[in-house]
Amino acid sequence: MRGRFISIEGPDGGGKSTQAKRLVRALTDSGKQVLYTREPGGTPTGDLIRGILQHDTSGEAIHPETELLLFAASRAQLVQCVIKPALARGEWVICDRFIDSTTAYQGYGRGFPVDVVKSINEFATQALLPDLTLLLNVDVSLGAQRTHRRNADIGQVEDRFEREDDAYLTRVRDGYLALAEASPERFRLIDASRDEDSVFETVWALISELERSVA
Ligand code: TMP
Repeated sequence: MRGRFISIEGPDGGGKSTQAKRLVRALTDSGKQVLYTREPGGTPTGDLIRGILQHDTSGEAIHPETELLLFAASRAQLVQCVIKPALARGEWVICDRFIDSTTAYQGYGRGFPVDVVKSINEFATQALLPDLTLLLNVDVSLGAQRTHRRNADIGQVEDRFEREDDAYLTRVRDGYLALAEASPERFRLIDASRDEDSVFETVWALISELERSVA
């Protein structure tokens, strides 16, 4: 039985990482081999790139073009070294962000032509697409509130992306909605303004539906 590739996407503050971890636990409990990974990162090279992108660890400002290509570089390494081998072993792969993050944040957000971003994604992934993309949709203001609260709870400083203004984050959110509308066969839109348990109920129902459809 071949593994499945699920990406979890959405604006910041939608609870992606929490839902991804719950999903990994539930799938593991149901007897599946599951690999959790995230972007940017997920490999030693990707984790170094994450530091540069999130916290400017190179010590210089990152140009938008460089930013886009660094996300793509991190993804290429992750696909080749982690995701493809896991799928070949028949495992389920749960990826916290994937191609659609770049299309939403760098394409719609920064204003790079969306078709150019999509070609770069395709090159980086060798056209690998998730079987299913769960889009955790949340309003920009609620997302920002949750992000600030989480940072305060764990004593973390805002990263480069969390310092972006509302106009940028609104373009990202609208970009995600446009992507979901354009590929309804791959995307499932989930109202992530609800509490964690209700969101997970929906996530689990969608995963069960996917399993039934490919069984
Ligand atoms: P995280 O907070 O979900 O770990 O993601 C880190 C930030 O990186 C988040 O604000 C979204 C941003 N991002 C992009 O701008 N483009 C991308 O391709 C990815 C994967 C993340």
